[in-house]
Amino acid sequence: MLNKIDALLSEIKGLKASSSAEAEELRIKYLSKKGIISSLFDEFKTVPPTEKKAVGQALNQLKNEAQQIIQRLKEQHEQSDTSHRKTDLTRPGASFPLGGRHPLSVVKNQIVDIFARLGFTVAEGPEIEDDWHVFSALNFPPEHPARDMQDTFFIHKDPDILLRTHTSSVQVRVMEKEQPPIRAIFPGRVFRNEAISARAHCIFHQVEGLYIEENVSFADLRQTLLYFAKEMFGKETQIRLRPSYFPFTEPSAEMDISCTLCGGEGCTMCKYTGWVEILGCGMVDPNVLESCNIDSKKYTGFAFGMGIERITVLKYQIKDIRLFFENDIRFLEQFKSAL
Ligand code: PHE
Repeated sequence: MLNKIDALLSEIKGLKASSSAEAEELRIKYLSKKGIISSLFDEFKTVPPTEKKAVGQALNQLKNEAQQIIQRLKEQHEQSDTSHRKTDLTRPGASFPLGGRHPLSVVKNQIVDIFARLGFTVAEGPEIEDDWHVFSALNFPPEHPARDMQDTFFIHKDPDILLRTHTSSVQVRVMEKEQPPIRAIFPGRVFRNEAISARAHCIFHQVEGLYIEENVSFADLRQTLLYFAKEMFGKETQIRLRPSYFPFTEPSAEMDISCTLCGGEGCTMCKYTGWVEILGCGMVDPNVLESCNIDSKKYTGFAFGMGIERITVLKYQIKDIRLFFENDIRFLEQFKSAL
């Protein structure tokens, strides 16, 4: 019997299986109830009592080793055998589609970069504002139409709480907090009660700017904005300042640039004038400085404000500003490469 056990042990040590199914067959052959080892246990009953101890030990050892060996063969295949898995690890990976920036963010970042080169920092403020920061501190007379429900979204009357109609409110906040020199730009979302069309929207974005220091002149304003126009639209770009009116600047002007499409010769984009309007600007009214506790005898400054939608429309020749807010991926994907 001992010889038989020895022979079986060396047989089992040499076992091989090429799949987990084959290993399972071996388990049945040797270790199941009707397997070879179980039959040896049956035979054990006939072993003479003097040999029982030695044979019993050998038999148990055989059973333990056989269990271990066959278990190992099974595990080997369970790790490498992928045929039973649902996941196909040989499939090519799914790529993650990389998003792009929204065209308005692309252009806003360009504007911020250009002014940063001139030393302008960025400041932001709340979209829900009070009358003081949007109108009163900015020298709006009480009967000014911007204070009318027609133009402004009011949230509350007396005290007046409203959605800001321009980011000039942030200029007021900065002037109230800091003394000159102040040199900052103010990007942000603004709201006006306008009918939505291809050219106008009730929500849009602005970048305004402010520079206050001793001896800041209109020439500084002009030179700063000329630099901006050339950086934004190309070196050949010309600017033109037309007299205008804003309650918070005196004198005030609208700035046009030479048409980016025809270069000034006349086309449908510039309505055959050669010029397109891009921003409003002027010298900060002394009343505004005084409202914000800045000495208007000592300091002067200029301010300007532009719509980001307008700049983007001109730069990329977009026909309808509603596209900016529709989230149509076919439109947005065209700006992917524009970092
Ligand atoms: N706040 C003005 C607007 O929203 C723009 C502007 C800013 C004009 C600063 C002049 C100076 O229309």
